[in-house]
Amino acid sequence: MLRDTRERALKDLRISVTDRCNFRCRYCMPKEIFSREYEFLERELLLSFEEITRLVNISVGLGVEKVRITGGEPLLRKDLEHLIEQMSALDGLRDVTLTTNGVLLARKAAVLAKAGLRRVTVSLDSLDDEVFMKMNDVGFPVAKVLDGIEAAAKAGLTPVKVNMVVKRGVNDESIVDMAGHFRGTGHIVRFIEYMDVGTTNGWRLDDVVPAVEILERIGKRFPIEPLGANYPGEVARRWRYADGEGEIGVITSVTNPFCSTCTRARISADGRLYTCLFAAWGRDLRGLLRSGVTDEEIKAVLLDVWTKRDDNYSERRSSATTGLGKVEMSYIGG
Ligand code: GTP
Ligand code: 5AD
Ligand code: SF4
Ligand code: SF4
Repeated sequence: MLRDTRERALKDLRISVTDRCNFRCRYCMPKEIFSREYEFLERELLLSFEEITRLVNISVGLGVEKVRITGGEPLLRKDLEHLIEQMSALDGLRDVTLTTNGVLLARKAAVLAKAGLRRVTVSLDSLDDEVFMKMNDVGFPVAKVLDGIEAAAKAGLTPVKVNMVVKRGVNDESIVDMAGHFRGTGHIVRFIEYMDVGTTNGWRLDDVVPAVEILERIGKRFPIEPLGANYPGEVARRWRYADGEGEIGVITSVTNPFCSTCTRARISADGRLYTCLFAAWGRDLRGLLRSGVTDEEIKAVLLDVWTKRDDNYSERRSSATTGLGKVEMSYIGG
């Protein structure tokens, strides 16, 4: 069995299919930096669907069971359903899913489901239009994201998960509303501690609302109790409503890191392999894929990278590490 230097297996691949997004969330792609002048990756620098599928197929041979498609905003990548279709035809994948801002979901949910996508996770940071528009910074309204969530549920992409990144003083007043709105719908809201990903979002520890505080605020209104993980290494800690109206999750990368069970590798849109969300450097796979090597040779490279892997950024997070040069969230996909 393939293991890294901390005895962790490789089980999940998070694959970014574009570094572009139609939102400018302040915590991810602040407008000052991701402006009209910003140079996004050109098309020929992106991995093709065939190249991605080839990598996934080789990774399955190393233990990968789950693929999550990310961006930027993955639904901006043209004909994404063709990629899903190609991946779904592979043997050995337990889960093919996608994290989206939901803008294009109402239009695309049915065709994605038909192509073999199992479920989706939709980012939504508030139900209050004023707060949400300020956060996405392009004036996009809540109602259209809710339409996307409903279209996904209708297409069978369930359970739909809803990701809310909580930033103190910005959207923390929306926590209980969010819980209340999705209680009893079958959708699972996950409250995410704002992380110091990349170098452009101006992260400060004071902006983080610790998960214990989030749970306390929700629990006061709707009694909750802890639930076990669905699978070893699950990122979210699960809680259920005591009255049976469903579950929620918290993602505690800052206050209670989960590096010791981290089984994830990431591939950026331009084909670099990163073994941590907070890495500064990734191994180039695109060059390798385009140099005519065999699957065995690519497998050997993946094996080499994973066996040398030592990352545990969130466990070491400190003033000494937060300033380091790290890749951006919109490039690596979270
Ligand atoms: P499922 O368990 O499959 O539903 O998905 P997920 O929670 O792994 O994926 P999602 O894309 O919804 O990510 C939720 C949040 O967790 C995002 O803010 C991610 O950036 C964060 N996250 C996911 N994996 C990691 C990780 O390995 N390390 C850290 N620090 N954060 C992660
Ligand atoms: N901290 C925590 N989560 C983040 N996301 C984007 N930037 C950050 C950050 N700085 C979330 C997105 C999406 C998921 C992939 O990561 O909202 O739901
Ligand atoms: Fe786009 Fe998601 Fe980043 Fe927001 S968090 S700017 S929706 S990639
Ligand atoms: Fe994995 Fe890095 Fe996240 Fe730790 S900080 S859980 S090693 S991706």
